[in-house]
This record gives sequence, C-alpha cells and structure tokens, in this order.
Amino acid sequence: MKIAVLPGDGIGTEIVAEAVKVLKALDLKLELEEAPVGGTAYDQHGHPLPEATLKLAQAADAVLFGAVGDWKYDKLERALRPEQAILGLRKHMGLFANFRPAICYEQLTHASSLKPELVAGLDILIIRELTGDIYFGQPRGRRQAPDGHFPGAEEAFDTMRYTRPEIERIAHVAFQAAQKRGKHVTSVDKANVLETFQLWKDVVTEVGQQYPDVKLDHMYVDNAAMQLVKAPKFFDVVVTGNMFGDILSDEAAMLTGSIGMLPSASLNSNRQGLYEPSHGSAPDIAGKGVANPLATILSAAMMLRFSLNQPEAAERIETAVKKVLAQGLRTPDIYSEGTTKVGTREMGEAVLKALTP
Ligand code: IPM
Ligand code: MG
Repeated sequence: MKIAVLPGDGIGTEIVAEAVKVLKALDLKLELEEAPVGGTAYDQHGHPLPEATLKLAQAADAVLFGAVGDWKYDKLERALRPEQAILGLRKHMGLFANFRPAICYEQLTHASSLKPELVAGLDILIIRELTGDIYFGQPRGRRQAPDGHFPGAEEAFDTMRYTRPEIERIAHVAFQAAQKRGKHVTSVDKANVLETFQLWKDVVTEVGQQYPDVKLDHMYVDNAAMQLVKAPKFFDVVVTGNMFGDILSDEAAMLTGSIGMLPSASLNSNRQGLYEPSHGSAPDIAGKGVANPLATILSAAMMLRFSLNQPEAAERIETAVKKVLAQGLRTPDIYSEGTTKVGTREMGEAVLKALTP
C-alpha cells in the first residue's frame, strides 16, 4: 500500500509528522514517500504542484495531505499560489467526492460556540462535490464589461456550471453514504435563483428515486446556513456543490468546537483518495508546536478505511483518539479549565501510546 505524504505549508509539517508516526506504529505494510507541495514546493521548485509531486500522488493508493497557504504568497499570480496545489490534485486525480464529517465529541461539547444541548451527539456528514461548479467552470477571467450596469468598465467573471453526470455521481455517493447511517439526505441548492442548481435539484430528485429507503429533502443554501446553527441535529448527510460545500463545511466544523478535530476525504471513482484535515495551514501558529494533530490523525484513519481497506486499523486509531480525549489531554484550540494542555507532539505521542490497549 503506497501512500504519498504531502505535508505542505504552515502547521502542515508538524501535524503530518504526528499522523505518520501513528501510521508507522500499525503493523501494516505501508510504503510512505514524501514530496513538497504548496508554498514550500514553490520556494524549492518554482511551482506549488511540481510534476514529480503530482506523479507520486497519482501513483499512490492514497495521499496524506497537510495544508497549504501562507499570506506571503498572496501577491503571486494565481497559477503559482499554494491553493493551486490542492485544486490541481483534485482536478488531475478526479477527486470529485469530498467527505467532511462534523462530529461533536462528547468531551468537547462545551467547546462549541453553540449551546451544548444543540450540539451534543451531533454527527453530520457533508458531501461536497469537488471538481465542478464555479471553482472550475470556464470561461473565467477579466475583461472590459461588454454590457451590464457599467459597460466598458473593468470586469471579472467566473462560470457556475454542472453537467448531469457530475450531479448524478455525487448524488449516488450521498445516497449510498446515507444508507450506511441515518438514511436522510438533505440536498442544498439555490434553485430559486440559479439554473445550475435547478438542474442539481432535478437530478438529485431523480437519483433519489433509486433509493426509496433514504429520505430526501431539499434546502436552499441560505436557509441551510441558518438551520446549521439553529437545529444542526436535523441533518444527517448533506450533499451540495463545490462552492456551497466549501462554505457550509467550515460552518459545520465550528459547531463541533474546533476545526482542529475534523478529518476529510476526497475520493475519485477508483477509491483512490486524498486525506487532509478540514482546517488550513494556520501560519499564525506554525512552528510553535501547538497545532492540534488530531484532524490529521483522524484523516489517516479515514484513509485506512476508504482507500486501503483496513477498517480495523482505522478503528484502532479512532478509539485511541477518543481515549486521549477521555484522559483530558487538549491542545490549546480545544482546551478548557480542568483539562491538561498539551502541544502537537505530546498529543501525537499520547495517541501512539493509546493504540495499544
Ligand atoms: C477547502 C479550502 C480550499 C477550497 C482552498 C484552500 C482552495 O478552503 O478545502 O475547503 O476552497 O476548496
Ligand atoms: Mg474551505
């Protein structure tokens, strides 16, 4: 089983190092190979996604990814910014299905900004389409406005678009995921305004007819944003487009107390996947040894389950994480009075120790 390890920028290197330790401690035949990505790769090779890094990722069974980005690259032309690395990997590997669970751990209920009774036991799975929509739609660019409110003025434009097959495949992913959990899918759209999302709604409805055991409802994205903070436990599986999924998954993450706890998986149709924490590179705390490695460690568990077919190993990691939380160990992002504050490395070590019962 080949794993490409791409730590990236900011806290990426620190958190991935802990996840790698955990992976190596399992008695599995894993072949890990590291490569630069993001701003780090730009500094070393002049490109955020060097050819060699992409090749390594494409040849691997799975990619363990840290995070990319730093303000210092904001002035580069777009094609060279760190974010292009993750967008390029998604595109070239065809990673169209993004799983972002938002689970509120029992011990962290009070870390949420919402009232404990609203989030206790929360378990939502956001399924975000990841290779289409306004993120990748052509044409896009800058020009002189040919018409509109200010003809002739400088203008920028992007294109929101989805084809039927793109919507069908992500809908199947969502319904099949729901069958294994709460049997409830909420499709989030903006069909009241956008043609793209009228097609989205129509196609999801059609696909839903093949899954009579799953309850389907539709929600406009503005209402979904509101319901997520009003009554989050209404949701089981949320399926939505690339852009809405980007926004709603950050919102859902905060319900759980800390984005530092949440893993994610991005899969293609061969079950090849990229696994990364839901959070970013956090340059403000990089190098300080305080970042929470649990989201990355839990991403490694998702990798074992989804791409490497090692469900027992995945469960061992997840159980170990629950154990360290029960022991009261907390990185600063999830710290509260009466618990023990630890750094990145101590947290990783604690998970390692907890792997063996
Ligand atoms: C995410 C991030 C990315 C996105 C950025 C870094 C390109 O926000 O994975 O949610 O917008 O998809
Ligand atoms: Mg995002």
